[in-house]
Amino acid sequence: MAFSIIETSWDQHQTDLRALRERVFIGEQGVPEELEWDGADPAARHFLARDGEQRPIGCLRLLGSGQISRLCVLETHRNTGVGRSLLIAAEETARGAGMNEIFLYAQTHATSFYESAGFSASGGVFMDAHIPHRQMFKLLV
Ligand SMILES: CC(C)(COP(=O)(O)OP(=O)(O)OC[C@H]1O[C@@H](n2cnc3c(N)ncnc32)[C@H](O)[C@@H]1OP(=O)(O)O)[C@@H](O)C(=O)NCCC(=O)NCCS
Repeated sequence: MAFSIIETSWDQHQTDLRALRERVFIGEQGVPEELEWDGADPAARHFLARDGEQRPIGCLRLLGSGQISRLCVLETHRNTGVGRSLLIAAEETARGAGMNEIFLYAQTHATSFYESAGFSASGGVFMDAHIPHRQMFKLLV
């Protein structure tokens, strides 16, 4: 499947980014709206994946702290490399910005996905939005 990834901002692509996250996190996973819209989006760098016809199919954001969050891919487009490519794009940007480390709070079902992208788990499992999570990090040096 042909797809492309762009780096963008909340100002530029808020409508697409909101629609993706509403569908996956709020609709599919039952994340409460007040947790999803946490106020960190305007200052974050965003990455948007689009299919060959420029329709949004996935996204993630990178915060100034080096935290990656809100990675999601539409169910219809999973297991085709979109999630991995979004992670790589964010990692390249983080490297370019001089960050030594990136980290995230992985839903436990996805820890092996992140491990295959070079992340390591640290610490125990905790609950957030009723979903079990684990902190993971990747050194960029
Ligand atoms: C997790 C998610 C982002 C993965 O995106 P994706 O586009 O399907 O992943 P990719 O196709 O890039 O997969 C890359 C590799 O990870 C594997 N993988 C994908 N999802 C996986 C999962 N949930 N668990 C374990 N491995 C997984 C793939 O098989 C692939 O392996 P390969 O390189 O050996 O072929 C996607 O399933 C998703 O959006 N889930 C719902 C939202 C969510 O849970 N987000 C994560 C929050 S922490």
